[in-house]
Amino acid sequence: MKHRVVFAGLAALAIVVSACGGSSGGGKVALLLPEKQTARYEAADRPFFEAKLKELCPDQFKEYIYNNAAEDATAQQQQAEAAITAGAKVLVLDPVDGEAAGKIVTDAAAKGVKVISYDRLLKGGSKPDYYISFDNEAVGRLQGQALLDKLTADGKTMAKVIWINGSPKDNNALLFAKGAHSVLDGKVEILKEDAMANWKQEEAQQIMEAAIAEFGKDGFDAVYVANDGGAAGVYAAMVANGVDPKTKPITGQDAQVDAIQRILTGDQYMTVYKAIQPEAELAAQLACKLVKGEKITDTTVAVNNGTIDVPSLLLTPVAVTVDGAVAGTKSVKDTVVADSFYGADTVAKICTPDFAAACTKAGIQ
Ligand code: BGC
Repeated sequence: MKHRVVFAGLAALAIVVSACGGSSGGGKVALLLPEKQTARYEAADRPFFEAKLKELCPDQFKEYIYNNAAEDATAQQQQAEAAITAGAKVLVLDPVDGEAAGKIVTDAAAKGVKVISYDRLLKGGSKPDYYISFDNEAVGRLQGQALLDKLTADGKTMAKVIWINGSPKDNNALLFAKGAHSVLDGKVEILKEDAMANWKQEEAQQIMEAAIAEFGKDGFDAVYVANDGGAAGVYAAMVANGVDPKTKPITGQDAQVDAIQRILTGDQYMTVYKAIQPEAELAAQLACKLVKGEKITDTTVAVNNGTIDVPSLLLTPVAVTVDGAVAGTKSVKDTVVADSFYGADTVAKICTPDFAAACTKAGIQ
């Protein structure tokens, strides 16, 4: 992937939406999400997309189509075909398998259906119309840099790292790994690098169980793991094997509630906060314009998917640690709490009785 233009993060929020207020065009909008294990899709991507579509394109919202493929690429292909048969003219597609889903895009294009590649890049020889995501290599760099800074602060040179990537079917996972490697290679010793085949917590847990068995409880210093679901698995494997997670920094991504709670107690070192609301709302704005046949002038960067340069919008991720003391990271309080990331009851969701003391210590109430 190459970025032609450096994009100024949330400036994309300044997107002009007034053009969406006109008469209703023909055709429906479909949102197709990839999985249910990771909290973000059903808890954030979907409701934020729907609320924005309802606001901007109320007529199309009445007929809007939603499906979640639950990590099954074949099911996703069928969901896309069914949506097109039912009259979808715009697919907002977050692919389970970026290569395999190329067929969905090519078939859609043959029928005049537009496709927005949502969060994960569509590949497989296809020509998606637009791409909306975060700067995913930057996600990996933030993970790698925060981990390196922590290990250095702890006096560890050439620290021994267990490394767990996301699903190889997801282009994002490749970018997260690329970004993290660009920071950590040559500065840590990578004992073992593996991947969650389907982004599942239990896959990370099994990899970590095997790593502890192979290298011993004290045979490693830290764990690079691509997201918070994986971090939960790594944490569980450590606890089950008598390893104190407070002594082995674990990375993450998504700023999930359970990860933020572990960060507050010191059981996970960091996460990457990606504000899903603007990402989902931008997708809804674009879908609304496209279904009405309006001109799109909002993209700011071109991302090559192996076939074409896809007009794109990339948002900026933020590294989160408990107090933001490590340079380049921000505190829990200044990110997910300040933004009410989990809704109006964000503090209540984080600061359950077990975490009340840790919340007070972090100045969250
Ligand atoms: C997303 C992450 C998510 C992962 C697993 C990636 O494509 O960008 O936010 O944790 O998939 O669903």
